[in-house]
Amino acid sequence: MDEDRVALVTGAARGQGAAIVTRLLRDGFRVAACDRRIDELAKTVDALGTDKVVAITLEVTSEEQWATAVAEVVDRFSGVTALVNNAGVLHRASLTEETPGGFTDSWRVNCLGPFLGIRAVVPHLRGRAGAAIVNTCSTGAIRPFPGHAAYGSSKWALRGLTQVAAVELAPAGIRVNAVFPGPVQTPMLDDTTQSRLAARALTGRIGTPQEIADAVAFLLSGQATFITGSELTVDGGQSLQIG
Ligand SMILES: NC(=O)c1ccc[n+]([C@@H]2O[C@H](COP(=O)([O-])OP(=O)(O)OC[C@H]3O[C@@H](n4cnc5c(N)ncnc54)[C@H](O)[C@@H]3O)[C@@H](O)[C@H]2O)c1
Repeated sequence: MDEDRVALVTGAARGQGAAIVTRLLRDGFRVAACDRRIDELAKTVDALGTDKVVAITLEVTSEEQWATAVAEVVDRFSGVTALVNNAGVLHRASLTEETPGGFTDSWRVNCLGPFLGIRAVVPHLRGRAGAAIVNTCSTGAIRPFPGHAAYGSSKWALRGLTQVAAVELAPAGIRVNAVFPGPVQTPMLDDTTQSRLAARALTGRIGTPQEIADAVAFLLSGQATFITGSELTVDGGQSLQIG
């Protein structure tokens, strides 16, 4: 059973994606670690020192690159049973300063990318035991943060896409869930932002990439076989706070 589980993880060069790759390997998956940062991805994957992971170049907004990446995974590991749409970009601007380009770029990576990923991978998930998809949303898709028009709305859209996919793919035995991280210690947040968010957090700290990886691993696991369309908030209580 373990040998049959193959996960494709996007945004795997660093941050939460790299933590998810490490955690899924530990759980017995073989993993396709995908990212557009090719050099950083190669270093991350080399450091794992196992042939159960392969580094694949993938720009998630490119339908062509999705087709090539999925073909490479299937060729290398004889299939794919799980997809983690983790890649994302954070772009902040006030409503009046936001540009159509900035807005569109966020949406393309954070929502179109997962859509293309689901389209590319679903034909391979059909009929596979334990088939599952996890999309990485954000507490920005639960609460409104100022300056997050592009990012927040793209993650709200991804939240909606997750629900539609869960409904549409349930009859095919494919579970689709989402994680909603609060602030996490990754390069996405600069040091000043990490300190500011830790200072106002209920728990006095922000999350670690491993804590998000644990939630993703759970949703892909045999402990979550009756869970689909769920929204797992992993934020140390951030979304409970007002103001
Ligand atoms: N860090 C946080 O506080 C936080 C909070 C909530 C949600 N998230 C979400 O978690 C996910 C992971 O973020 P992270 O914190 O690890 O950030 P990160 O910036 O450290 O890593 C993101 C990775 O995604 C890759 N990526 C970005 N755009 C891509 C594209 N178009 N094609 C392929 N790869 C691409 C980057 O190269 C990078 O390796 C994102 O979806 C992010 O929006 C992060």
